[in-house]
Amino acid sequence: MRIAVLAERAPGESRVAISPETVKKFIALGGDWAVTVAVERGAGIAAAVTDDALREAGAEIGDAAGVVKEADIVLGVVAPDPALLTGAKPGAWVAATFDPFREPARVDAYAAAGLEALAMEFMPRITRAQSMDVLSSQANLAGYKAVIAAADTYGRAFPMMMTAAGTVQAAKCFVMGVGVAGLQAIATAKRLGAQVSATDVRSATKEQIQSLGAKPIFVESVAGIEGEGAGGYATEMSEEYQKAQAELVSGHIAKQDIVITTALIPGRPAPRLISDAQIASMKPGSVIYDLAVAQGGNVEGSVADQVIEKHGVKIVGYANTAAHLAADASALYARNLYNFLSAFWDKEAGKPVLDEEIGDAVRLTRGGEVVNEKLARN
Ligand code: NAI
Repeated sequence: MRIAVLAERAPGESRVAISPETVKKFIALGGDWAVTVAVERGAGIAAAVTDDALREAGAEIGDAAGVVKEADIVLGVVAPDPALLTGAKPGAWVAATFDPFREPARVDAYAAAGLEALAMEFMPRITRAQSMDVLSSQANLAGYKAVIAAADTYGRAFPMMMTAAGTVQAAKCFVMGVGVAGLQAIATAKRLGAQVSATDVRSATKEQIQSLGAKPIFVESVAGIEGEGAGGYATEMSEEYQKAQAELVSGHIAKQDIVITTALIPGRPAPRLISDAQIASMKPGSVIYDLAVAQGGNVEGSVADQVIEKHGVKIVGYANTAAHLAADASALYARNLYNFLSAFWDKEAGKPVLDEEIGDAVRLTRGGEVVNEKLARN
């Protein structure tokens, strides 16, 4: 069994899909069957993982073609161009993120190459898959980093400070979208001493917001709207609800110093939460961090990887926020992949064998075909 890891090639991608810890664990997993882990030279360096550390853990270090040659499984953060994988075994597995809705051509190319694409972002949100869930591990770090980046951009302090020269007021921070990233953003802003409030379309988040010591901002007047669809994800809301939410939130936003937006709806562009008029209502010097900027943005006019200023308000958003914490993000991502493959390790076969519930959820291509039901095309 040969596991190959290439250096990431997407612009701005500083993470890596393996760590010295997971190299050791994969090798130990093999038992009587030899497992080889081969990593492209320099693949981990941007995440503070050196070739020497990987070699000491037992990995083979080489060039891309040598690493991939005869590989059974390829691990990636972003799925590599299948043209790089021609030396892998026929039907080799590639466990990575594929962004399947926005990159259908890549999925087709994997099918045409006869590879088995396993999309880590399609991991079902079930209890036993929590330790394999790359969206959660990365979103948690992104939520933290969004607050740190916003604090860095903000020209004032977060906590209240009583000094001999006078009092510095605490910043008011509003988190929109309380999934994994939003919860961590609330916790981080609280730790920094801000006055924190938050909103979501899923009413279940109200208690979670309160349990972190923040104030929930919710539409109460529009009845019968739960906002939660399959797998705990948000659904698109009715026009009536959207209007009521926009009004409530508009009044609140005008009083905020920091707004962190994290709202996503799987398979669709990010919902627009903040309009230009709402930005104009904020005080000069306020900061908005748009965590959804790469999915189309929650904030009107936000631009990936740039700090733009509108009506005196700074709008920030890295396209790939987790990559700005590459060392931690890689260590957790690598562990997610190890947890996934080891959970299905078949000792007799000396390789992983997926079950239906998780296998069918994550598998995009097999035997030359696109096989995932989420991607069924008419
Ligand atoms: P996400 O990244 O898809 O979306 C972020 C948040 O934005 C969500 O809370 C969503 O409800 C909210 N949102 C969407 N449209 C909005 C709007 N118009 N206004 C305000 N907020 C809006 O969500 P994430 O972080 O992936 O979590 C989704 C769900 O999955 C949560 O219920 C979470 O608890 C659950 N989950 C379950 C896991 C498991 O059991 N294995 C693991 C991770 C998450």
